[in-house]
Amino acid sequence: MKKTFHITTFGCQMNEHDSETLAGLLLEKGYERTEARKDANIVIFNTCSIRENADKRFFGTLGQLKKKKMEQGENFTVCVCGCMMQQQHIIDTLKTKYPWVDVIFGTHNLHELPVLLDHLYEEKEKQLSIWPEGGDIVEGLPADRLFRHKAFVNIMYGCNNFCTYCIVPYTRGRERSRKPEEIIGEVERLVKDGVREIMLLGQNVNSYMGTCQDGSQMDFSDLIYRLNEIDGLARIRFMTSHPKDLSDKLIQAYVDCEKLCNYIHLPVQAGASQVLKRMNRRYSRESYLALVKKLREAAPEITISTDIIVGFPGETEEQFEETLTLAKEVRYDSAFTFLYSIRKGTPAEKFENQIPETVKHQRFNRLVEVINGISAEKNQAYVGRIETVLVDGPGKTGGRMYGGRTEGFKLVNFPGTSAMIGKLVKVRITASNTFSLVGEVVE
Ligand code: 5AD
Ligand code: SF4
Repeated sequence: MKKTFHITTFGCQMNEHDSETLAGLLLEKGYERTEARKDANIVIFNTCSIRENADKRFFGTLGQLKKKKMEQGENFTVCVCGCMMQQQHIIDTLKTKYPWVDVIFGTHNLHELPVLLDHLYEEKEKQLSIWPEGGDIVEGLPADRLFRHKAFVNIMYGCNNFCTYCIVPYTRGRERSRKPEEIIGEVERLVKDGVREIMLLGQNVNSYMGTCQDGSQMDFSDLIYRLNEIDGLARIRFMTSHPKDLSDKLIQAYVDCEKLCNYIHLPVQAGASQVLKRMNRRYSRESYLALVKKLREAAPEITISTDIIVGFPGETEEQFEETLTLAKEVRYDSAFTFLYSIRKGTPAEKFENQIPETVKHQRFNRLVEVINGISAEKNQAYVGRIETVLVDGPGKTGGRMYGGRTEGFKLVNFPGTSAMIGKLVKVRITASNTFSLVGEVVE
């Protein structure tokens, strides 16, 4: 029987990219990809554990497959992987409540998937393989990319920061940086393959420290300067940077490197220094604001997005209001806002004064109103301007509308053609919404 697979991805870009790798590995082994989950005989869930609702969505979706698995037995394979699998309590739940799952693996051993499937089919035994920590970085893995013209490039794995609310250091392990030569080689190959824009990925790209073959070291800004020299590459972005490690050298890179997009995602998490301290973020409200000022002095056009958590344990009304005033002061182009979610095994799980759900929701709504108001105003200011847009493809609204991103990561929808996909086109902005711009191609 022809082996077909489908991957469902939950969570962040890191997971999206891991799924591209999983797909690449399976295609290399002769498996075929299907568009719809229902058409595949191998189903893979790449999970996220950042907040409780991610856990719930996964278990909900997984549960829906039980009937099919019971009916089809060996002819239908269910695999689960990703961040959730790095937690023992999740493995225990899978074993007791979802014993029909065939293959379980973690974040550190993606490359094992083809072998685990071979073992499953040959030995007719369920496969469980979790590595507690990341070993040496496995290089040279294939990727079946989502886009031809832009690509994710991992520069480091793991996180050493241990923000007190966050599960990532436990699910992704300690920081490990890829070798500069590996990254540069990968980007050069991608560019030869038609890629115009790269998104450098890491939980905290600012603490990247790569050791070159000759033993010398390259930090994150050195890497940007080096990638900026690659002919044919048009845009460099990165995600995510931690404010505590954002160096003056990196700020200077915005001035010197024309390919580095004038955009930064700079998660603030909270506006009150006392909350930031309890979150173990290791910067204050004042130092964050000073950083934003420095960035804007160096790169006046820079757009800034952020992540904000509301209802962190012990957050008082006054402290929450400091988040509101900070958002108004920075005037973010956009912000991802989250209700604090207790994560098992993190320090904040044990903190006193957990905030009642109703209070969290009220604060969340108040924050979103402020954030959206600012986003809408910021977007309004683009009307009449001409922006360079890297065209991604047909827009969500269908018809003749195509979508793409400006250098500042703003989504623009405009009437276009399929010939524009992957090209940089000039678009005059004619209207704006809270989350996107509308325009018309001028050349
Ligand atoms: N609850 C709510 N939001 C969280 N984030 C991380 N952990 C939690 C949590 N326990 C948010 C942070 C981070 C983003 C990726 O997810 O804002 O920057
Ligand atoms: Fe989580 Fe903090 Fe690491 Fe980001 S820096 S992944 S929020 S622990």
